[in-house]
Amino acid sequence: MLLVKTKEELQQKLGSFREFGTVGFVPTMGALHSGHLSLVEKAINENQVVVVSIFVNPTQFNDSKDLERYPRTLESDLKLLKSTGCQFVFAPGVNEIYPKPDRRIFNFGTLDSVMEGKHRSGHFNGVAQVVSRLFEIVKPDKAYFGLKDFQQLAIIKNLVVQLKLPVEIVSCPIIREESGLAMSSRNELLTTEERENAALISRTLFLAKNFVAEKSVEQLVHWVLKTINKNSFLTVEYFEVVDDTRLKPIKSWSEKNTKIGCIAVFCGKIRLIDNIILN
Ligand code: PAF
Repeated sequence: MLLVKTKEELQQKLGSFREFGTVGFVPTMGALHSGHLSLVEKAINENQVVVVSIFVNPTQFNDSKDLERYPRTLESDLKLLKSTGCQFVFAPGVNEIYPKPDRRIFNFGTLDSVMEGKHRSGHFNGVAQVVSRLFEIVKPDKAYFGLKDFQQLAIIKNLVVQLKLPVEIVSCPIIREESGLAMSSRNELLTTEERENAALISRTLFLAKNFVAEKSVEQLVHWVLKTINKNSFLTVEYFEVVDDTRLKPIKSWSEKNTKIGCIAVFCGKIRLIDNIILN
């Protein structure tokens, strides 16, 4: 496994591998956990060469405190990645990705005006900036993203179409801790007590799925908010039921689309997201 810090070195070293087959790419912000490793393993199974990037992208943080406290654990990340058998780790500095400020403004229509887009202004524009930069550098055949960031996946699929990029976006299932809590680098920032209480988020989503037959959408949303907000560690920022492609709010279960319940919850200062397919 080779650790590379500059785009020139990556492109030069990757060049000789390309003739052997496809390049799989897993972009990350580090603080790796089993969720990330499942993406890397899938990429390894489906490609001849795999690149994992580790870059905490400043342009996608709308809260400077959040950026500051984001965990940075390069040494242990490298150990974990070595055990997967991936060939390249690309860990650039900020100047390498943004030699000058990226002023591009993307238009994702309604895809980024709801949920995360509404509550984290500019977040998806920053994600689009970094992902398009990374795709330009790595030129992957396939790129792997987790379904926990459901809205991010919808945005990235749209980005690839807008920019006509020849990369296949592969969606990978949410990996959960034993308690059901969706795996996230942010879980590391929770105290033991907070982490135990945060498991109520996924427990409530799993139960919500069983209630689809007996509650209206509005009643279900109300029940989820009440159930989680009753816990003194947790404050729901939003819970919305949306269709899985345009992310438009669902008003009735009789609508034809696949329906996803998406949630963001503060556990103390830490913001956690999760989602569940409701039909
Ligand atoms: O999902 C993430 O970790 C980040 O948003 C990504 C896709 C690596 C871009 O910085």
